[in-house]
Amino acid sequence: MTQRPYIVGNWKMHGTRAMLSEARAIDRAAQRHMKVEVAIAPPYTLIHPVHREAEQIAVGAQDCHEHDGGAHTGDISAAMIADAGGKFVILGHSERREGHGEKDALIRAKAESALAAGLRIIMCCGESGETRDKGNAVAFVKKQLKASLPKEIEEPVEKLTVAYEPIWAIGTGKTATLEDIAEMHGEIRKLLVSLYGEEAGSEVRILYGGSVKPENAAEIIGTAEVGGALVGGASLTADSFMGIAMAATESVEG
Ligand code: PGA
Repeated sequence: MTQRPYIVGNWKMHGTRAMLSEARAIDRAAQRHMKVEVAIAPPYTLIHPVHREAEQIAVGAQDCHEHDGGAHTGDISAAMIADAGGKFVILGHSERREGHGEKDALIRAKAESALAAGLRIIMCCGESGETRDKGNAVAFVKKQLKASLPKEIEEPVEKLTVAYEPIWAIGTGKTATLEDIAEMHGEIRKLLVSLYGEEAGSEVRILYGGSVKPENAAEIIGTAEVGGALVGGASLTADSFMGIAMAATESVEG
């Protein structure tokens, strides 16, 4: 893995302008952690304000519509995100899949639209606790990911990141075992190689997500095939989020 670890904060539906001070603090701290790539995805309403102030971190969105524009009340297109200064979009998060009924085909269409607008994508995947208990986690995640990813991506290493987030680990304080993470990431790696070829498939970063915090970040990010973390709750303060970035820096420095 030659890419820098990628630490992405998913603020979900948290954050008013009062939280811009945290974004500023994250940005300042990121300037001291150049061996790690740090980014945040605040709510849409904060993309432009964060973009205007950030010098080091990239800002992105948590979703986009699959069309460029039109009569879609309440939706936001990838081009609008780019116009506001967004550089990437998180797609296929389980809270979108479950809370908004998003299916793989729709997520693939969103990914194609985002790439066409020049955004990078972070494609999420992950199994429920029930699927894992039945022993079907790997097969489920591979099928979900294959159906959600665009069949072709120009410059996949630059444009694509995958995030494995077991649903039962999100916001619960539970994390997958390091063995399970290594197994799943290894299987995702094989899938990426089969989809995009050896060279690109072996370099695309695969993040782990689900209750990552400063205390467990070092061992998770140090696990085979883990290229960083997608962080929810612990990304809401600069202190805890940069604690994770610090752990990632240490994992690079060995
Ligand atoms: P969590 O969320 O870190 O709060 O578990 C992760 C995510 O949903 O991206």
